[in-house]
Amino acid sequence: MGQPTATPDSVNSLTVHDNRTGKVYNIPIVDNSIPATAFKTIQAPRAPGEREENETEKGLRVSDKGFLNTAVLRSEITFIDGDAGILRYRGYPIEQLALHSSHLETAYLLIYGSLPTKPQFKIFETEVLHHGVTHADAEQFCRSFRYDAHPMAILTSAFAYLGSYYGEANPSLQGQSLYTRGNAASLEIMDKQIYRLIGKATTLAAMAYRVRQGREFVTPPTGLSYTGSFLYQMDHLGEENYTPNPILEKALDVLFLLHADHEMNASSTTVLQTGSSLVDPYSAIAAGCASLYGPLHGGANEAVIRMLISIGKPENVPAFLEAVKKREKVLSGFGHRVYKTSDPRSFIVRKTADEVFKITGKDELLETAMALHAAAMKDEYFIKRKLAPNVDFWSGLIYRAMGFPLDFFPVLFAVPRVVGWLAHWRQMMLQEGGVKIWRPRQIYVGASKRDYVPIDERVAVEGLRKGPSAISHSG
Ligand code: CMC
Repeated sequence: MGQPTATPDSVNSLTVHDNRTGKVYNIPIVDNSIPATAFKTIQAPRAPGEREENETEKGLRVSDKGFLNTAVLRSEITFIDGDAGILRYRGYPIEQLALHSSHLETAYLLIYGSLPTKPQFKIFETEVLHHGVTHADAEQFCRSFRYDAHPMAILTSAFAYLGSYYGEANPSLQGQSLYTRGNAASLEIMDKQIYRLIGKATTLAAMAYRVRQGREFVTPPTGLSYTGSFLYQMDHLGEENYTPNPILEKALDVLFLLHADHEMNASSTTVLQTGSSLVDPYSAIAAGCASLYGPLHGGANEAVIRMLISIGKPENVPAFLEAVKKREKVLSGFGHRVYKTSDPRSFIVRKTADEVFKITGKDELLETAMALHAAAMKDEYFIKRKLAPNVDFWSGLIYRAMGFPLDFFPVLFAVPRVVGWLAHWRQMMLQEGGVKIWRPRQIYVGASKRDYVPIDERVAVEGLRKGPSAISHSG
């Protein structure tokens, strides 16, 4: 056994014995994590037959497809215990926030770290609502989409488009330390973009809705809450004294709060990955929005309703579950990378659904959803894999009951998630030691070095995935 190459705290360390070389390495454990870079010091000469691309002399690589166990940063924002079904924003249990707070107050908490005092909240709320108005050209931009464009395509594009208006907020134009200096001037520029992005998220979302409905756009109102203003911008059709139904407004606000953040999910990671190049926040948020749109993430609420419609009625649930078990179908709204028990948000959504149904009447798909939920929860396949309902299982039913079109559901996830994306982006910009560009590694398993072959001497490589498809053209 070789000598340890380092002697850190012997308890808080991991001893690794490299059987290739006989060397022993002590790797420090900090906050129950080990630095992946420490493995770079574990080097070995190339063994006979080993591919040069494995680069054994350059140190051991850590492979983690899908980030199953890789902590990409230190964060003070959100904590999840997936086994116990716990979710806390900045230490506050999600249940308490859903009961007592509002989406905008929670936004302040997530972004700045503590609950605001009355005057602090007033300033924040005023700034966010004040920044709801978009440039008049945004109307033209939204109208340039086809009548049947998916609203997520409009929203994703609109965030990137928005950035083109704010040259003063763009590190590519103003210098790359625009957001990383952390002084008063830099923080002020950062906060202004935060107000703009949260404020305009509802406006752009409402525009994406109205353009598809053939409605004129409305200017964001004054005197309403963030969620109330959103409902106004969606719904208002020239009525005098329009006010949104307070129960529906509250329900949507709770749903917004529940969706505001969820630590290192796919879209937040995308925002950070994109932001790590120090690009402007509008481009980073547009990237996050695109990531959220996928059916495994924010598109799941839409997928749940499409699934329930396809099942049709409770009698068809057993056949559907059989198809899921044969992997012919996916039970959307079930399962989660982190939660191995019910998602704590799903209980609050379920309760909120009952409040909404008192106003709107029950959704005809509710019975099918309940039958599906009950059957899956006692089915061995789902129990064994610890698959339980996530936040999206019930949320779509509320959105449907409230009259939102099906393809608008992911937008209702994206708008509140802007808050979480910004909280993570801000934290990364201000982190100690500056921003490190996110540049993961790969395990190269492709061809080893080979020489170029002139076209006339090549032998065709056959196979379904080995070349471009032949497309059939029509029309
Ligand atoms: N239906 C059927 N089987 C499932 C499901 C599901 N919804 N989810 C996971 N499984 C199975 C999966 O096939 C695998 O089985 P096996 O071990 O036999 O191969 C096992 O359970 C483990 O699943 P996994 O795919 O390794 O889990 P993951 O952590 O990679 O994926 C997930 C998590 C959310 C993408 C997945 O559970 C899923 O596709 N769920 C449906 C989509 C959905 O509801 N997404 C919303 C997530 S919550 C809101 C958000 O944060 O966006």
